[in-house]
Amino acid sequence: MIVFKDVSKNYKNVTVLKNISFTIEDGDLVCLIGESGCGKTTTLKMINKLLLPTSGEITINRQNIKNINDIKLRRKMGYVIQQTGLFSHMTIRENIEIIAKIEHMPEEKRKKRVREMMEMVDLNENLLDRYPNELSGGQLQRIGIARAFMTDPKIILMDEPFSALDPMSRTSLQDELLKLQRKFHKTIVFVTHDMDEAIKLADKIAIMDQGELIQYDTPENILKHPANDFVEDFVGHKRIWNSPEFIKVKDIMITRPITCKEEDSKFYCINKMRMSKVDSLMVVNDEKELLGILYAESLRLKNKKANGIKDYIEKDIVSVKENDSIVDLAKIIKDTKSATIPVIDRKNHLTGLITRSSLITALSQQFVEEDD
Ligand SMILES: Nc1ncnc2c1ncn2[C@@H]1O[C@H](COP(=O)(O)OP(=O)(O)O)[C@@H](O)[C@H]1O
Ligand SMILES: [Mg+2]
Repeated sequence: MIVFKDVSKNYKNVTVLKNISFTIEDGDLVCLIGESGCGKTTTLKMINKLLLPTSGEITINRQNIKNINDIKLRRKMGYVIQQTGLFSHMTIRENIEIIAKIEHMPEEKRKKRVREMMEMVDLNENLLDRYPNELSGGQLQRIGIARAFMTDPKIILMDEPFSALDPMSRTSLQDELLKLQRKFHKTIVFVTHDMDEAIKLADKIAIMDQGELIQYDTPENILKHPANDFVEDFVGHKRIWNSPEFIKVKDIMITRPITCKEEDSKFYCINKMRMSKVDSLMVVNDEKELLGILYAESLRLKNKKANGIKDYIEKDIVSVKENDSIVDLAKIIKDTKSATIPVIDRKNHLTGLITRSSLITALSQQFVEEDD
């Protein structure tokens, strides 16, 4: 756990960081984002003591890092920067194993580990004897990652590592990093100025502006609840529609669906549909468990004699959960052709309803400007 407590940084009398406080949990990938000059790199470099705070403190696992030897601290952290920081006069192999060598990792183990690292970043071993200037930008960033992971540090700092890459290499490196993160659960602090990148990679995003930390939250919450106008502008108005996986069924469902009981009469149900202007009722029991759907259409079609509705209830239905995304929902609607989809909890209690019109309302929001 890395904790920033009231950290400020001044250069002479210019304050470039103002009372930054936040906590990075173990195993999280945190993105620091903001415009150029807002203090991202300064924040990052204070974690490995390349820069020292003017005031405030930074602790790692409750230990103030000012009491940890600089070199010792840095060796425990991977560090990847935009220009990779590889030594041009050393081969790729020498670059990857440099720290392991300094730390006297036995040669056999080191060689094996280098091979593992190359496989991990999806590069051919025959690149190991080349020099950095013989590799592409994307390959070099992969080497940068391999080197950072080599000694298996718990913390990895990355300063705009993919910013200089073409979009294709960039996407594939982002995917690669996510894959590694799912496997190894490092604590990663990742500086970027690209919101798409932050949303894709981060467990939490720290939005900075002119040396201040404006909002620190999950991508989902930042998209849904920007802390102020700055964040909203920075993130982009209605930006959440670029990330529909964050829009959940609970955000767009009707929360009080019209229901009936299994014992209700046909007359009662037809009347209820008319009054509430719906063409189906959710059939529930006293515990609010969902039993099925009663469609107006089937009441009209079938056997006219029965007074009850039992024979008319459609029981073979598809439902969704509140935390399903509208991407999941769209697939379900496509597969089932149904446009009335009940929302249930884990115990099959009815909690809401998605209809064609609730979906259209939600989708049309993206074209409508809010008045307030
Ligand atoms: N050595 C320095 N002396 C004076 N000002 C500096 C120094 N290094 C950085 N700054 C200033 O601190 C601010 C934050 O810089 P930085 O953390 O590199 O921003 P970012 O990484 O977000 O682009 C900038 O305004 C920059 O000009
Ligand atoms: Mg920077």
